[in-house]
Amino acid sequence: MKNTVITVQNAKESKEKVTMLTAYDYSMAKLIDEAGINMILVGDSLGMVMLGYEDTLSVTMEDMLHHTKAVARGAKDALVVADMPFMSYQTSVYDAVCNAGRLIKEGRAQAVKLEGGREFADHIRAITDASIPVVAHLGLTPQSLNAFGGFKVQGKSVETARRLVEDAQIVQDAGAFAVVLECVPAKVAELITEKLRIPTIGIGAGPACDGQVLVYQDMLSMFGDFKPKFVKRYGEIGMMMKDAFRKYKEEVESGAFPAPEHTFKIEDDVIEKLY
Ligand code: KIV
Repeated sequence: MKNTVITVQNAKESKEKVTMLTAYDYSMAKLIDEAGINMILVGDSLGMVMLGYEDTLSVTMEDMLHHTKAVARGAKDALVVADMPFMSYQTSVYDAVCNAGRLIKEGRAQAVKLEGGREFADHIRAITDASIPVVAHLGLTPQSLNAFGGFKVQGKSVETARRLVEDAQIVQDAGAFAVVLECVPAKVAELITEKLRIPTIGIGAGPACDGQVLVYQDMLSMFGDFKPKFVKRYGEIGMMMKDAFRKYKEEVESGAFPAPEHTFKIEDDVIEKLY
């Protein structure tokens, strides 16, 4: 069944957890979709995990469109959400609506996600008024890395936790249909989840959220040396891939691959005429 903004909203009401994973290309989107995950996020994390940047700040609209198109082709039932990259919406409400529109019209996403709270309420309202569903993103918002002074848990003091709760209500009132809570204390996420009508999707925000999201490279251990506290590793896929690559190298070097079963044949009398 196709996941939509309505099914995601219904999940909150019926207390079913919403699942979301990132994907950045066709083949991974297809696997995630076939596994029954509700939502696929084409995250601007692609700057780090696919393009090798040290943060998400250099990701462009063209990068997002390129990857969103591929994911949309692979996702049949999952709701595809595309991230609005740094400076694609911060500059004006007009830019926000135009760029959100491009992610839907050219990228074929079904929703967009943007980082920030009250300061982007007008942007969220204008995008939703253009019939584009918006996922808000609060807490550790990686596009504000320089303002935060690093990747840090947010909302640990009374003032910052209160601001988070208020921001969550503001983005809901502005029209967001869900909100990602990244790296906030579990009890703050629980309070926000209780107060909101829309689902909260947590990453490093504890078990009370209405749903969870992870970057697939993290949950598959594709970067062996990188393990944030909030990530659970569901498979040692990075190691399995490296073992397979090493085995392939050994077999090519030894001549064990390709074997006769991997080889196309030709009749002897045809080949003889070529000599
Ligand atoms: O870009 C991304 O992958 C994200 C998730 C971490 C929520 O925004």
